[in-house]
Amino acid sequence: MSTPDTTRTSPTADEQQARVEETLIRNVLRSFGDCEDPRLKQLMQSLVTYLHAFIRDVRLTEEEWNIAIEFLTAVGHITDDRRQEFILLSDVLGVSMQTINVNNTAYKNATEATVFGPFFVDDAPEIPNGGDISGGATGQPCWVEGTVTDTDGNPIPGARIEVWEADEDGFYDVQYDDNRVAGRAHLYSDENGNYSFWGLTPTPYPIPHDGPVGKMLEATGRSPMRASHLHFMVTAPEKRTLVTHIFVTGDDLLKYDTVFGVKQSLIKDFTEQPAGTPTPDGRDLGDTTWARTRFNIALAPANI
Ligand code: BEZ
Ligand code: FE
Repeated sequence: MSTPDTTRTSPTADEQQARVEETLIRNVLRSFGDCEDPRLKQLMQSLVTYLHAFIRDVRLTEEEWNIAIEFLTAVGHITDDRRQEFILLSDVLGVSMQTINVNNTAYKNATEATVFGPFFVDDAPEIPNGGDISGGATGQPCWVEGTVTDTDGNPIPGARIEVWEADEDGFYDVQYDDNRVAGRAHLYSDENGNYSFWGLTPTPYPIPHDGPVGKMLEATGRSPMRASHLHFMVTAPEKRTLVTHIFVTGDDLLKYDTVFGVKQSLIKDFTEQPAGTPTPDGRDLGDTTWARTRFNIALAPANI
């Protein structure tokens, strides 16, 4: 009588199921095997690997997948040349911020980068150093000053500094229908690398949340609010372009910024000055309070 072979057992239902799922993954990965662009091949195969891992991890239902397709379709439908819902989606998932982290690795004391946001325009007016970016936007006047240097502290004259911000109602000029240009400008650092301008003390505002991304935030109990901030983009020859903002010390939203843009090094004191306090440039602000802040910018070399 032969002894039974105890080393070979027929697969359990779970093992059979796992084999079906893993065979599919292998087939999909293999389908990209002949891609001639090695980077594209890597991107597609890695994407497939993580997507399938997600589906298997959460045991995605067909109903949930249909809801996801409807959601992405709605994101596409609301997107046009004024509204980019895919960027918003990337922002609230932290994908924009992680891509920035990966592409702006720390270098010495270089100023940290953060999200670009959808409200930059590339033909903002030029102002002189000490000029005013508000263009009629309402809010508390705020004197902003600082230096632009390299990471060894050498001044960078002539750096182009783009600045933009929302008004005190939380809206950028481009969100109004009247073609106003307000709360934005560009200026250049002087021969010693110094810059200064009058802006507005930043106030918190919600990202556009009347579309599918807003619905997703609501469904998941998340706020659409961004911490108060002032945007900067700084460019200089042979330096890594810096896209960043500064945030306001003490803002309650610093911990909950809905696009995860806050970095400790970018939180600055905006010191309120009582009405009547002399201004740095002698400007007469009458009986309004004003604020001041300093943001020293260090640019990393390009191509590091
Ligand atoms: C902004 O800072 O302006 C912004 C950033 C991400 C999404 C929406 C707005
Ligand atoms: Fe913003």
